Order: sequence, then structure tokens, then C-alpha cells
Amino acid sequence: MLSARAALGIGPGAGTLALVPTMGALHEGHRSLIRLAREHADHVAVSIFVNPLQFGPNEDFSRYPRTFDADLEVCAAEGVSLVFAPAAEEMYLPDRQVSVSSGQMGTIVEGSFRPGHFDGVLTVVLKLFNLVQPDTAVFGQKDAQQLAMIRRMVADLNVPVTVVGAPTVREPDGLALSSRNRYLSPADRVTALALSAALREGARHARPAEILRAAGAVLDEAAQAEPPLVLDYLSLVDPATFTAVGDDHQGEAILAVAARVGGTRLIDNVIVTLTH
Ligand code: PAF
Repeated sequence: MLSARAALGIGPGAGTLALVPTMGALHEGHRSLIRLAREHADHVAVSIFVNPLQFGPNEDFSRYPRTFDADLEVCAAEGVSLVFAPAAEEMYLPDRQVSVSSGQMGTIVEGSFRPGHFDGVLTVVLKLFNLVQPDTAVFGQKDAQQLAMIRRMVADLNVPVTVVGAPTVREPDGLALSSRNRYLSPADRVTALALSAALREGARHARPAEILRAAGAVLDEAAQAEPPLVLDYLSLVDPATFTAVGDDHQGEAILAVAARVGGTRLIDNVIVTLTH
């Protein structure tokens, strides 16, 4: 099969290629990934593929927003050189056997609520890397554990791709951009603001117990709202391993939250700096 790199005529010494892997429903956050990708390479490819492997049986695979024509317009406006949008039958052989295991790290924090999710993510990302053959790939910091797991895969499996993390893009009121935000009713959206508000409150502190207490108080209040916020987790973790940090941890940590509002599950996170 011809790789995207070959299709673009990027041979040795003929320029660099950055990939922005997406599941489509492109928004301003994806545009920022594409712009960052351009800073790292001569050409940018975007993949659009709603990956069935990373959705659990009770998750939103069938209703995940699919806006292919609008996505192509975004890619054209952002000067993307190539859009790779395979069909599921092209990506996965009917008798496929081999996939990537996300290991123990894939079973904690987000992984404990979404069994198999990170195996599915890593399997499709490795396949996309093989099919497109980019020099660089850009992923949003909003999916912080996904980013950490992809960095881990690249290190563990010697994948010759440089992984770049991109800052989370937010609405002016703090809501992190997500393709799933379009599921929120106006009332859901008001409750959903508690995620970013909790992270902001937490980030005003520098010790783990205080960070978690301040953020937790905002989430507790939102649990009484109508519609209520239903918390999956609020965790303060090491950015590389996603294990919980203790009072002895110095330097950066990630304060990560996941919660459901109405029928929509949202995640968000912020980097905090811990001092004693
Ligand atoms: O973040 C996403 O949109 C997806 O998890 C990814 C990385 C494109 C893999 O399907």
C-alpha cells in the first residue's frame, strides 16, 4: 500500500511531514493542532477516522458526530496537504489478531472507566503512523492520558515519530473544546462549566491535598445542580505515568477530571506545579 508520505512525493531529503490524527467533527481545537503541526513540518496530513476499537459497548460510537464535508473545508482552509479518511473495512482486516496492549498504564484513571479504550487508541495510532509515515504527530493535551500513553508507546516500541503535545483550546468561559460539546443542552453546558472551574480552583494551590480539596468543592456543588454533574474521577497524577502523586512530589503534575452531565461524558485537565 502507498503511504501518505509516498502519495505526497516526500522522499528522502524532500521535506518533512506532520500528522494530526483526528476522529473528525473538527473544531477550533483541531485547527490549533494543524497550525502547530505546520510549525513542525513542511507538509501536514490529517487523518479522519472514528475508530471503533476505542469505544466500549455502551459508548457513543454510533452517534459520534460525523461531519466529513465540513471537515474537508476546515482542512482546505488550514492548508492541509492530505486528508486520510479510510473506511473501517480498510483499516481492520476481518480476521485481525494482533493489537497494541496499553499495559497497566492503560487500566488506571481514564482507563479504569473505559476498559480497552487505550488498547484501541494505541492500535489505531500505530496503524496511522505506519500508513502515513509522518516525522511528527500532534495530539491535544486535553486527552492528557492518551498523549502520555502515545509517548510511552513510541518509547517502548521504538516508533520513529516525534510526538508533540498541543495546549487545550477553551471557550471564553473556560469550557474545553470537544467534539462531544455539541451533545450538551444549554442547561447541561452551564453545569459542565464546573469541570474547568474546578481545575482553575485547584491550580490556585500548590500542595496535593489542597489542590484536590479546592477542586473537589466545586465539583461537589455542581453535583447538586440541575442537571447534576456526576463525577467519574478527580485525580492528581504524574504527567508521564498517570500514577497518583503524593505530598512528596515536586514539579509538574496533572489535575485530571472526568464527569457526566446529562448523557455526555466530558474530560478536562490542567498542569499544576507542586511545591512543598
Ligand atoms: O483523540 C482522538 O481524536 C483519537 O483518540 C485519535 C488519537 C484520533 C485516535 O483515534
